[in-house]
Amino acid sequence: MVSGLFKQNASPDRAQITIREATRADFDDIYALFQHILKEGSTYSYSAEEMTAERSLQYWMEATGTIASIAEDNGVFAGCSALRPNRTGRAHHVANASFIVHPDHRGKGVGAALGEYTLALARKKGYTNMQFNFVVSANEVAVKLWKSLGFVIAGTLPKGFNHATKGLVDVYIMHRPL
Ligand SMILES: CC(C)(COP(=O)(O)OP(=O)(O)OC[C@H]1O[C@@H](n2cnc3c(N)ncnc32)[C@H](O)[C@@H]1OP(=O)(O)O)[C@@H](O)C(=O)NCCC(=O)NCCS
Repeated sequence: MVSGLFKQNASPDRAQITIREATRADFDDIYALFQHILKEGSTYSYSAEEMTAERSLQYWMEATGTIASIAEDNGVFAGCSALRPNRTGRAHHVANASFIVHPDHRGKGVGAALGEYTLALARKKGYTNMQFNFVVSANEVAVKLWKSLGFVIAGTLPKGFNHATKGLVDVYIMHRPL
């Protein structure tokens, strides 16, 4: 069940994580993190140049049905997620989501907390499935995290991503019922 605030205080070495719905005031943090990730070239397919502030605002917050959430670690911006319908019309029951954790806050459970929160939010919004269309196979932390949250690999797109340092690598479509 999702409430306005979600707190996870698992153990002292983990982050003091709070998750809440994003507001327009959070967009600068989201955009800076998104640009950083895109320039790294190892997880998302978009180029940093094509994802202008205007397009990024649509992607993370303003496209139809999109709900952005913010994770804070001891009150500091630590990451974000966006929940959206994967497709319209007769596939509208399937959710899609995006996640980024700030490099300074990784490995402390922020990604897992954002994932659990977003799954609960999707259920609350009436979605019955969640699908990730583009999980880079070389993104081992993400693949492990999504499997731990109940996702399975539904299909593999051979050499679907041109990784900045590894070259052409496979891409997974992952899904789970909600
Ligand atoms: C994928 C991502 C969201 C994970 O966020 P995170 O906050 O570091 O994840 P968590 O701390 O919740 O860790 C999740 C699991 O991965 C493991 N993990 C985290 N960082 C790791 C690392 N560098 N090496 C190995 N394992 C790691 C954790 O131990 C944990 O496993 P456990 O539950 O068995 O302990 C984050 O790495 C990220 O933002 N990456 C760039 C953007 C991206 O890839 N988005 C997803 C696209 S599909």
